[in-house]
Amino acid sequence: MFKSRPSKHVVTPTAPTRTHQKLFQRPELKLQSTTLWEYSSQHYGTGFQGSPRYQGATPSYVIWNLLNRYTKEGDQVVDPMCGSGTTLDVAADLNRKGIGFDLNPTRGDIQKSDARTLPLADESMDFFFVDPPYSDHIHYSEDPRCIGKISASNEAFFEALNAVFAEAFRVLKNQSYMAVYICDFYSKSTGFIPIGTRCLALLLQYFKPVDHICVVRKHQDLEKGQYHTAAIDQNFYLRGFNHLIIMQKQVPEQKKSAEPKVRYRSSVMKIKKTH
Ligand SMILES: C[S@@+](CC[C@H](N)C(=O)[O-])C[C@H]1O[C@@H](n2cnc3c(N)ncnc32)[C@H](O)[C@@H]1O
Repeated sequence: MFKSRPSKHVVTPTAPTRTHQKLFQRPELKLQSTTLWEYSSQHYGTGFQGSPRYQGATPSYVIWNLLNRYTKEGDQVVDPMCGSGTTLDVAADLNRKGIGFDLNPTRGDIQKSDARTLPLADESMDFFFVDPPYSDHIHYSEDPRCIGKISASNEAFFEALNAVFAEAFRVLKNQSYMAVYICDFYSKSTGFIPIGTRCLALLLQYFKPVDHICVVRKHQDLEKGQYHTAAIDQNFYLRGFNHLIIMQKQVPEQKKSAEPKVRYRSSVMKIKKTH
């Protein structure tokens, strides 16, 4: 089993129940080889990556897999919506240099910044990972710039994510990779919003697609009987997977200094302004 270093940022979780232990025990950590990723714990090893108490934290094995595949030791890995710092902890475990930003920094090694205007030089980063808000159902902070304050039923939500993706393109070195971890959204009032598919379409404006992974969600709520009953009685589906979209920046050498820098402009979708 992979032994994570004892985290400096350990938050003692409430005692796990027997059911929790059975469902969410930590198996051996290994590289995923198909486009269907499943691992039955939020954390790997014997410590924690990020905080187990943070609502909406990224499962650390997802970032572990990405960094193993697309970076090497010493590489600079940026997460512009770092939350509880999962990316920073995984980067440290793998001897990568993690650089974290968030509008609401939860710990000292996360800097305050809007993900759309990062204080980073052009073409300076080796990998970019982002797990953005999936609509406005989680309260992250009071900051009015928080993208988690915008409903995904509003086009402004996709305009905001588009600005984050453009920033990823700016700060990444040519040939390097980025990944977006995101979930679709359903509510009775909005209906189904295909956030993952729309993000892929936005990303294609800037990047070359590498792959599209389905990550099985292991949220405890999904195990609760009343959610399943409601989904069947009311004829909707619970979100069973997250999208993991992996892209690569590819600027042809001869066009590197020419404008526009973006190679995939042909597929640019115009986002209709609604405000
Ligand atoms: C899903 S959480 C990220 C979780 C994180 N990957 C982890 O494992 O803890 C989304 C984060 O985006 C941040 N956020 C929302 N809008 C932002 C913006 N415009 N710039 C930077 N961070 C933002 C929120 O404060 C929140 O921490």
